[in-house]
Amino acid sequence: MTRLRNRRRFGPARTASQERDGLIWNTRSKKGFDDTELKRMVQNGGAVLPDPLSLHCALLLTSMAPPSTAQHPKTADPDHDILDLLRERWSPRAFADRRVEPEKIRRMLEAARWTMSSYNEQPWRYVVASRHDDPEAYERLLDCLIDGNQAWAQNAPVLMMSFYKETFSGNDRPNRCAPHDVGAASAALTFQAKEMDLYVHQMAGIHADVARETYDVPDDFEPMAGLAVGYLGDPEMLSDDKKTAEQAPRSRRSLDEFVFGDEWEDSADVVANGSSR
Ligand SMILES: Cc1cc2nc3c(=O)[nH]c(=O)nc-3n(C[C@H](O)[C@H](O)[C@H](O)COP(=O)(O)O)c2cc1C
Repeated sequence: MTRLRNRRRFGPARTASQERDGLIWNTRSKKGFDDTELKRMVQNGGAVLPDPLSLHCALLLTSMAPPSTAQHPKTADPDHDILDLLRERWSPRAFADRRVEPEKIRRMLEAARWTMSSYNEQPWRYVVASRHDDPEAYERLLDCLIDGNQAWAQNAPVLMMSFYKETFSGNDRPNRCAPHDVGAASAALTFQAKEMDLYVHQMAGIHADVARETYDVPDDFEPMAGLAVGYLGDPEMLSDDKKTAEQAPRSRRSLDEFVFGDEWEDSADVVANGSSR
């Protein structure tokens, strides 16, 4: 009887939610949720769970491994507290042979879209290719990378290349900040990727002339960097030197080496001697 009443309330369970395109879809609200969003909903507490999704969420909850105490060797050990996203992002060379869901690719590019830029020029452009969805387009993009990068980037299921427009669209004057702004857009894309368990490895090592010809790039645009995107893979797939780098801790200059006060190379008081005041 209760089951009958529930079925009347929720409709047949089969149609309440379904998996498509890497997302769990609530068929009534027509909204799709990915693993990250489902996990967040579970972590935020059952009260906010939409009913038809509660089964999936419960399943996720039970299948979620207990938090690991072991820290990944690439996780940063910062001197001052920063976002987990920033601590845990890094640039891998080993990627899993797993398709990146098109919706996740769109979300990465949407993050780039909403990046700030000088005069809101949005000088960035991207070429994108997914090996699982269009192997020919993927090969064309792979050919735009230098050999040293191709060797490992071919593990990545998605490749991108960033470009920037050298002049302002309104008056054709040089846009000094365009390379800065495409870098910022790619950083936003990278952090959005990490939020979805995806990793990005940018590459300066590209054949800009090949990219220019392959994509018929207009004269006032400049190829900037390649981006290899995917889920983490097994370092065993890499050559010995790259395997070592894949597991080595990340290192950085200290704040007092690049934050200056009164004079160039004179550390600002706020960062001198590891100050935490
Ligand atoms: C614009 C840019 C260009 C890069 N070019 C290359 C490259 O051509 N080949 C490569 O293996 N890594 C490249 N990298 C990755 C850097 O070496 C890497 O970000 C740096 O060592 C810091 O490591 P992390 O990203 O893991 O913190 C590049 C990174 C950026 C942001």
